[in-house]
Amino acid sequence: MRKFANYFQGFFILSALITLMSLAIPVLPPIPYDYVNLNLPPHFTNTSFDVTFWDNTPGNNPLTNDGATLGRVLFYDKILSLNDSKSCGSCHKQQFSFADSSTHSMGFNGGLTRRNTMTITNARWHFGGKMFSDTRGLSMEDAVLMPIQDSVEMGLSLSQMVQKVEQQPYYASLFINAFGDSTVTETRISYALSQFIRSIVSHTSKYDIGRAQVSAPEDAFPNFTNSENQGKTIFFSTAQLGGGDCAICHRTEAFVNTASAITCNGLDLVSTTDLGVYEATGVQSDIGRFKVPSLRNIELTAPYMHDGRFLSLEEVVEFYSTGIQLHMNLPPGLIDTIGGFPVARQFNFSQSQKTDLVHFLKTLTDTTLLSEIKWSDPFTISTFAENLKPDKSHISIYPNPASNYISIYPDKILQDKIVDLEIFNSTGRKVHSQKVFLSGRQLIDISNYASGVYFVNVKLDGMTLTERLVKSF
Ligand code: HEC
Ligand code: HEC
Repeated sequence: MRKFANYFQGFFILSALITLMSLAIPVLPPIPYDYVNLNLPPHFTNTSFDVTFWDNTPGNNPLTNDGATLGRVLFYDKILSLNDSKSCGSCHKQQFSFADSSTHSMGFNGGLTRRNTMTITNARWHFGGKMFSDTRGLSMEDAVLMPIQDSVEMGLSLSQMVQKVEQQPYYASLFINAFGDSTVTETRISYALSQFIRSIVSHTSKYDIGRAQVSAPEDAFPNFTNSENQGKTIFFSTAQLGGGDCAICHRTEAFVNTASAITCNGLDLVSTTDLGVYEATGVQSDIGRFKVPSLRNIELTAPYMHDGRFLSLEEVVEFYSTGIQLHMNLPPGLIDTIGGFPVARQFNFSQSQKTDLVHFLKTLTDTTLLSEIKWSDPFTISTFAENLKPDKSHISIYPNPASNYISIYPDKILQDKIVDLEIFNSTGRKVHSQKVFLSGRQLIDISNYASGVYFVNVKLDGMTLTERLVKSF
């Protein structure tokens, strides 16, 4: 009897695992969300730094709501990795403004990325559209297929990718809506992913609220504290005026680099393990140059720099204050001359200036982006599955063994979920079935059950969790 029960339970767990692997289906709104209208506030467009001028959207891939919807599903779909374990969203996490909080992110096979996962927020405003710290992605359309083929990140060939996407039943209609027919191609996948990423822009931070009330970024913002306003002045003013010259490289309302999108900020005296843009171009003057990521939501995208070497904004500011190195490709703007010799600039900010700068950088935090549903994971099931540990109990049954009543308590993951609760006896006959909202304790009367072993199943989104219950007299 006991052996049979074990076998039976094994069967339940196995079937739970199988459903877990095959039943991720995206949940999408009947009418697509609006991705096309960015609703940019006027300060983005009515200044000499009109960001739309720097938009890297190519003429042959304009943003559409259906295209971005398909892109959203692809972005969060783990089938784009060899073993169905990683999606783009596994590293570019919405809660960290589409960056990762670990210095190096884990790829599909447990390997670590060489560089820190940068944010893709505002990637649309990177002039010229070159992607990655070394700019090896020549455009967004080019770049988005690279992580899929990367041997650490996702590990698929492009033909495997097309085949796996073709096999998922939910893609046909998404391709029809986006491109007119259901044909899956590499180009269409790249276009849709690019559209989705280009839709992710940030413009509702504390900075934006203040900026909307004044005529130039340099003016004092009425909604800022003194410290934030002072930090802003340091950010925007030149070294000659006692500032930090930050806006030489972190420009426009999107806080990106408008020049060539690449520069050296003197992190090291000599480049050793990571040669930066040189790795993509082979040009000597590109050694030690790195793409400048957008500073919007910078508070949330730690750690910082291509290798994630700085864990906090305080460390970054300390670096700019006293740590800039006279690298061979340090730009003139960060070089001073002392006694006829070039030296790396030392801003030597005072303690309060450093605090002010950090306070200012934090005004760029835009929390609406973190909960915006149109950019969120449509595979609610896979988010759940990620937290789900099949070897761990997610419900507790008290008492157990029990004779009259049992109480079922959900854990944090199941808390507040609507589930199907079923109880089977050891011959597989269903003796109880009910839809419940697991908001706390769930009481069930088992007084009329025969004594023996039962299986309490909790079903959610096609997944089944099983706990063993013993009924005694
Ligand atoms: C395993 C983690 C991981 C996964 C999965 C991943 N990325 Fe990334 N992503 C990174 C890292 C690390 C970088 C920085 C790489 C570099 O600079 O060389 C990056 C950079 C990028 C950039 C460059 C942004 C810029 O401004 O230059 C884009 C675009 C991007 N990823 C898109 C994607 C897409 C699309 C997917 C899914 C198809 C994806 N990523 C999957 C880790 C990941
Ligand atoms: C000469 C150009 C230049 C100047 C001036 C400059 N930066 Fe940067 N900044 C860069 C580059 C390039 C990077 C990316 C380096 C890397 O990835 O290793 C960067 C990265 C950063 C980052 C981290 C971004 C991330 O997502 O990891 C912060 C924060 C930052 N800078 C703030 C500042 C502040 C504050 C100032 C003024 C005190 C400043 N920068 C001045 C070029 C510059």
